[in-house]
Amino acid sequence: MPAELDTKPTEPTERLAEIRVRSPLSIVIPTYKEAENIPPLLDRLERLRVEHEIDLEVLLMDDDSRDGSVEAVRDCGYDWSRIVVRTADRGLSQAVVDGLGLARHPVVVVMDADLSHPPEKIPDLILALESGQEFAIGSRYVPGGSTDDDWGFFRWLNSRVATLLARPLTDAHDPMAGFFAFRRADLARAKYLNPVGYKIGLEIIVKCGLENVGEVPIRFTDRVRGQSKLTFREQLKYLKHLRRLYIYKFRYLSSFGQFAAVGLLGLVVNLAILSALVWVGVPEATAVAAAIAVSMMSNFLLNRRFTFGYARGGRVSTQFLGFVGACSIGALINYAVTLGVISARPSWPVQVAAVIGVGFGTIFNYLTNQFLVF
Ligand code: GDD
Repeated sequence: MPAELDTKPTEPTERLAEIRVRSPLSIVIPTYKEAENIPPLLDRLERLRVEHEIDLEVLLMDDDSRDGSVEAVRDCGYDWSRIVVRTADRGLSQAVVDGLGLARHPVVVVMDADLSHPPEKIPDLILALESGQEFAIGSRYVPGGSTDDDWGFFRWLNSRVATLLARPLTDAHDPMAGFFAFRRADLARAKYLNPVGYKIGLEIIVKCGLENVGEVPIRFTDRVRGQSKLTFREQLKYLKHLRRLYIYKFRYLSSFGQFAAVGLLGLVVNLAILSALVWVGVPEATAVAAAIAVSMMSNFLLNRRFTFGYARGGRVSTQFLGFVGACSIGALINYAVTLGVISARPSWPVQVAAVIGVGFGTIFNYLTNQFLVF
């Protein structure tokens, strides 16, 4: 099997005709007012099924189009296809998520109904999975891939900018694509899927942590029948979706940032309380203890509210004891590392050793709080 399917064009599909798609395949197709496109799409899938001897099921996830889609599927008479009419929680991505929940076969393909995605490329997608990729995209943006010539400049630019914005999330060249294949078992790697808008493929890549993404070049053909439902409003939802995905992908980095910020604020609280108590004449030893207690409490409350906000439902007393316990061990680590640096590098200013000690203590505190306390 070629290992370089990643970004290079594969053999033309005609030359791969002898490939048998060994795994039974579920194809999930979101549909909304696609009655005219359904028969030609199902006919092309039937040809593919026969040619490659595919054990196939096709799920058309329809948002109650009432345009004859149900009748169109019935009249085609293919026993491997069925249409599911959805009346709640409408939208392309949710329709796909529901379809994935109904799919029975180990490998899943998702594609549009409007014939813009060539079904004949499905064996190439499966080949990419079989040669080790976790996720295979029918891609417009790898060598050999293309879009119809009448894609205006602004649609092209729009698509490229959207792709660029997703770059920190995945290396894929066409993560916006709605034509892709993956192993259904990999869905278990996502705690949840909650896409907004159209980009269900990107959602699956990020939430399932799929790193190994292959791309098979396709020609994206503009639909001939019916209308695109990709409105400006849907495109704005992409920004909201991106924000969620960034927070998800870089969650440890951002929550560590919040933890560190709360820690800095705690230092300010500590110094303010200490100065105020000493100023009113409280003995220093008592003032230091009180400042530590108050700053620890404020750190706990802020971390519980923001850094680990997801754990707000837990018992406060247990969490507080865990927090204090973890931070006490963190303080000992801070102390030991600081002394270690002082003895290993006596020429360094003691403040540098202290900062290194604080760094280690903070990382320890963060990890124990993240994984054991909240
Ligand atoms: N169930 C359901 N509900 N299906 C929907 C809905 C909806 O609200 N909106 C659209 N669909 C279906 C359409 O019927 C079609 O099969 C598919 O989703 C894609 O919708 P289009 O409206 O045709 O999208 P497009 O061609 O403009 O967008 C294409 O390009 C994007 C990248 O530029 C699609 O391929 C997208 O998947 C892709 O992300």
